[in-house]
Amino acid sequence: MPSIHDLETPAVLIDLDRLEANVVRMAARAREAGVALRPHAKTHKVPEIGWMQMRAGAVGLSLAKTSEAEVFARHGFPDLFVAYPVVSPSKADRLMALSRRVRLCVGVDSIEGAEVLAAAAVRSGQTLRVSLKVDSGFHRVGVDPKDAVSVGSRVAALKGLSLTSVFTHAGQAYHRADPKDIERDNEDEAKIVVAAALGLRQAGVPIETVSVGSTPTSRFGFAHKGVTEARPGNYVYLDRTQAGLGTCSFDECAMSILATVVSVSGSDRAVLDSGSKTLALDMLRPKPDGYGLIVGSTSRLSALSEEHGIVAVDPGDVFKVGERVRVLPNHACVVSNLHDRVYGVRGDRIETVFEVAARGCVD
Ligand SMILES: Cc1ncc(COP(=O)(O)O)c(C=O)c1O
Repeated sequence: MPSIHDLETPAVLIDLDRLEANVVRMAARAREAGVALRPHAKTHKVPEIGWMQMRAGAVGLSLAKTSEAEVFARHGFPDLFVAYPVVSPSKADRLMALSRRVRLCVGVDSIEGAEVLAAAAVRSGQTLRVSLKVDSGFHRVGVDPKDAVSVGSRVAALKGLSLTSVFTHAGQAYHRADPKDIERDNEDEAKIVVAAALGLRQAGVPIETVSVGSTPTSRFGFAHKGVTEARPGNYVYLDRTQAGLGTCSFDECAMSILATVVSVSGSDRAVLDSGSKTLALDMLRPKPDGYGLIVGSTSRLSALSEEHGIVAVDPGDVFKVGERVRVLPNHACVVSNLHDRVYGVRGDRIETVFEVAARGCVD
């Protein structure tokens, strides 16, 4: 069995014990709350890990991009949710081709987008299941809660569409310094999406699925009356941001980057062969603090250029040229998108290589 010492660096390592524990823990949390789990696969983009989630009890997967859904459909996943507003006719046609092969649902948050999907559904002679996205405080996409019933009713009336679901993502939790605020986000996401479902039902729209989902809020559970589904994504790997938010401990983070020290200038600076090409440029949230932590130390990556990771060496830490270190990334999902493969390891042993089949799927 090859060892991580045989790998060229930089290389992305996935601690399989931690990954498996993370998958099982979230599946148990969903089961205990009596909600279906539909993990967001944007975090790993790896079909084998998707199957691990399915074996642990997931009902299907969520994805952001049409092309990601195409990859997972090719790998045999039977039930997919594209949790992203699709507004172009060509993508809508691709989704309709996909819906011949899998049980598909697509997110909508506007009449204009829904009309594009409806036209494609009619062209293809199918009915497309859609889910209305409601903004529960992140203010990215999603209809204002006060407009959920009016927009949803108009979407539901479109020929070719079947609106049976509402969903939300409480991404604002990533910007909270106080766990109490994350707990409130957890309550708000449920309250707002459940209210939208009730309002739509009263208006005659038969909403069946009421879906929440973010890893920081999932720490406070899914047991809210009326919620039927959860879509956390990052929980499979976790990362420095999640540890900082209090979602997990450092010991639960499954992803690290194996890197080599390529230069040391003075006692306070070392340079790794892992820059933004390897780690991406995502800042730590909620408070910026470098680009990654050197595992087993308090030293951080203070700056990245494309090929260089600059370590601000803390007093007491010593790095030598040629030495290998592991970096805990700020944000695991964006790292996945930069690598063709990641290495599944137990200790120093490489047990498997995962092809990141849906990486680079931008459309
Ligand atoms: C719509 C939607 N659902 C679910 C998720 C999963 O959130 P997290 O990665 O915090 O678990 C995301 C993440 O961006 C998302 O955009």
